[in-house]
Amino acid sequence: MSVVAERLNRIKASPSIMISSKAMELARAGNDVIALSAGEPDFDTPDHIKAAAKRAIDEGKTKYPPVAGIPELRESICEKLSRENGLEYSPHQVLVCSGGKQVIYNALAATLDPEDEVIIPAPYWVSYPDMTLLAGGTPVEVATDPGNEFRMTPGQLQSAITPKTKWVIINNPCNPSGAVYSSKELEGLAEVVRRHPQVWVLTDDIYEHIIYGDTQFATMAQVAPDLYERTLTMNGFSKAYCMTGWRLGYGAGPRELINAMTKIQSQTTSGACSISQWAGVAALRSDQSFIRENNAVFESRRDLALSLLNQTKGLSCRPPKGAFYLYVACGELIGGQTPSGDTIKNDADVVNYFLDTEGVAVVHGEAFGLSPFFRISYALDSSQLEEACMRIQRACAALTR
Ligand SMILES: Cc1ncc(COP(=O)(O)O)c(C=O)c1O
Repeated sequence: MSVVAERLNRIKASPSIMISSKAMELARAGNDVIALSAGEPDFDTPDHIKAAAKRAIDEGKTKYPPVAGIPELRESICEKLSRENGLEYSPHQVLVCSGGKQVIYNALAATLDPEDEVIIPAPYWVSYPDMTLLAGGTPVEVATDPGNEFRMTPGQLQSAITPKTKWVIINNPCNPSGAVYSSKELEGLAEVVRRHPQVWVLTDDIYEHIIYGDTQFATMAQVAPDLYERTLTMNGFSKAYCMTGWRLGYGAGPRELINAMTKIQSQTTSGACSISQWAGVAALRSDQSFIRENNAVFESRRDLALSLLNQTKGLSCRPPKGAFYLYVACGELIGGQTPSGDTIKNDADVVNYFLDTEGVAVVHGEAFGLSPFFRISYALDSSQLEEACMRIQRACAALTR
């Protein structure tokens, strides 16, 4: 008899972490591997943020912090939401967690009753469906159209809503597609949500600042103030502030929801790391110009990878407007024969073929709920990125019919 609980059978381990681990194993065994699979910036945490953390240690700010977050951080989050998003929250409406991931899990665990449904536009961040299942709910996937830049339309949302719908998750900009919803598009979705009072909106804004050209970021509670009472705005420090290892994220929403989420956190992890929280205060309250500088680097890498992959036989991708991923269509590779005589049947085969023959790790579209695609992360230096794209070109050219 297994020691593992039955409900664990419903979920899988994160596929992107699994691919990254396989790539690391191959590299440790002496293979020349380039990983385009990780979801984190390659830039180091800015020095002024590190300095704030060192100060916190030296000043003895090392005791248990309040469960919902230190007041200084919750206040600076309220200032940020007001300054950048035109959203007014009080510190009591903010919960600081150990990463954005925990905000989402707390929200789902605090609100889902058995059979409650969560609408998740695909392609999606890999954890949404599994977190929903773990919290006892039912994920409802909505396949978006690449022709609409992978954005869910109001009509698609309307068709997915049932009396059991509790949440719709909007990830803007989106991991893995890089899709960005304009305020007009969000307003279209809001129009649908308005008609269904049982539906709440969880906006995952973690890539808010990683956005290109003249694209403008917008978030649901700002675009549709009448939905403020049914919206959880989630954000964090991992991406724009290059703080993945510090494990810091936050959610802002109605007090009843935040209190319920805080109750879960009080019985699980307690407050997020006190040192990270002081670093978070410095991140939000000091100079933000490094974000623009990092984005310029990301944008030039995006253009480099796009150009090389769009010149590759069997691949195509449109320029995404945000995040640091390309979601590359690879349907034309299916049916191809590899030099060792295997037939490519799906996007998982494409990914294994790239890793086994060229040592390039990417993540298959099936993991994100929409095939046949694969995701590359361009958060690595240009020379490595260029080399990886050339290897992908070589692998694709070696396939025969
Ligand atoms: C869309 C999205 N949401 C949330 C997270 C979680 O971020 P963290 O827990 O590092 O704050 C990630 C991380 O990859 C992500 O891509």
